[in-house]
Amino acid sequence: MAAKARERYYVTTPIYYVNDAPHIGHAYTTLACDVLARFMRLDGYDVMFLTGTDEHGQKVEKSARAAGMDPQAFTDQVSQNFRDLARAMNFSNNDFIRTTEQRHKDACQALWRALKARDQIYLGSYAGWYAVRDEAYYTEAELVDGPDGGKLAPTGAEVEWVEEPSYFFRLSDWQEPLLKFYADHPAFVAPETRRNEVISFVKSGLHDLSVSRTSFKWGVPVPDDPDHIMYVWLDALTNYMTAAGYPDTECAEYTRYWPADLHMVGKDILRFHAIYWPAFLLAAGLEPPRRVFAHGWWTNEGHKISKSLGNIIDPYHLIEDYGLDPVRYFLLREVPFGKDGDFSHRAMVNRLNGDLANDLGNLVQRVLSMINKNCGAQVPAPGALSEDDQALLTAAQELVDSVRRVIRVQAFHEALEAIWTVVRAANAYVDRQAPWVLRKEDPARMQTVLYVLAETIRHIAILTQPFMPDASARILDQLAVPEDRRAFAALGGEGALTQNTPLPKPEGVFPRYVEAEATAESAG
Ligand code: MSP
Repeated sequence: MAAKARERYYVTTPIYYVNDAPHIGHAYTTLACDVLARFMRLDGYDVMFLTGTDEHGQKVEKSARAAGMDPQAFTDQVSQNFRDLARAMNFSNNDFIRTTEQRHKDACQALWRALKARDQIYLGSYAGWYAVRDEAYYTEAELVDGPDGGKLAPTGAEVEWVEEPSYFFRLSDWQEPLLKFYADHPAFVAPETRRNEVISFVKSGLHDLSVSRTSFKWGVPVPDDPDHIMYVWLDALTNYMTAAGYPDTECAEYTRYWPADLHMVGKDILRFHAIYWPAFLLAAGLEPPRRVFAHGWWTNEGHKISKSLGNIIDPYHLIEDYGLDPVRYFLLREVPFGKDGDFSHRAMVNRLNGDLANDLGNLVQRVLSMINKNCGAQVPAPGALSEDDQALLTAAQELVDSVRRVIRVQAFHEALEAIWTVVRAANAYVDRQAPWVLRKEDPARMQTVLYVLAETIRHIAILTQPFMPDASARILDQLAVPEDRRAFAALGGEGALTQNTPLPKPEGVFPRYVEAEATAESAG
């Protein structure tokens, strides 16, 4: 236990383009990382959890211009939106990186020099297609027909023809080493289907990659050639190492946290993380990250989300409508992580009223109010355990192992499903044991039953903390579990509730969602 306690875990979100207002996509990626970070901390790990903003490049420069602002002043202002979102979503990141910080420019230039010194970068000239929205180069063959006969990027982004002097990275030299790397590290790209896509893309042949631009200025200058600025993806990807102290590879942070354990990304940016990034790092003689997980995309009531359709899902509205923890729960429970999912009001309300208010909320409320009324508002005193008692307790105690197993592979929905199996088992046990009948017939037995239930709820609430930090804390408060007994080390018999501990007055944790129309109807 003690040795494991100091193992480290480094998890990152993509850094977000500041030109957009934060939306559900940003909230989702960071939420997944937040749950991992909280989970690993509770499991005794020393966690570094990084998020931040991607502030260079043509796209951001354009937006600054459209706002009539200097790019630095613009990014200073809009980067704050992402810090605010992190606070509103209760994210527990340890650092927030901005690519316009000096520490980051130093890291980018150092990585460039390392690549140059190894002859991995050469000067040439680029002539081809570029999509500003994706900040990506496309070959002619990759383009698709647009609705008005013009050519578009495969992502649907507009492309423009670019011809300029450019430095190139020898990506084509890395085809075989990358394929070997994927073969040697089968868990590097997840889920499996994405891994297959990455491998077949690499097998289809890699071209050298243009890594500098000369037609605009908003970026990190190329060392010793200030007419060039670095390609924004080379700049952006480096953030993961900047935050770990690069280029000082001897420093405590770097030796402790690099390579990162996990880069969480959306499926749209997998190519950059699973192909370019490990190639840059291998070429510079640095260690690639251990894993890249590509999650799916949300649609809104069945429709693709886009600014032009005006159907962006604003995380602040979700929090206001349903409450923060129900939203956090829904996003990770509704859709198998890695798959695309649809956000609908009905699905959200079903989860809130079903899983949260009915299943967990009622369980906690019933048990705590019975204890409050019938056990002198103290942790009940258990007698000998029956087989049924022991079965429920064992299920609760063994839960952490199964949850840990699926969290390791980012299967959040399975973790929640496993926890809810015990929630439902506890509800069935209440019905079977009928403590309200025991109250008159066998009060000692009632105490045992309520103790078993309180212990089960303690296990459940400790395990739901990464997903729903506030609601879980409120449940643990109602069980008078001290702050320092809420980590996974306190699961099992170790941190068991002590009989006769006074308990506060119970309060509901998950209010039911009532439709506005229904309220109006019942009022009228
Ligand atoms: N700046 C780059 C990342 C650089 S990382 C070195 C970038 N930024 S972004 O702001 O566009 O990132 C958006 C993130 O949100 C991506 O992970 C993307 O997949 C995610 N989403 C954007 N829209 C989404 C949905 N509709 N649904 C789920 N996630 C989506 O890319």
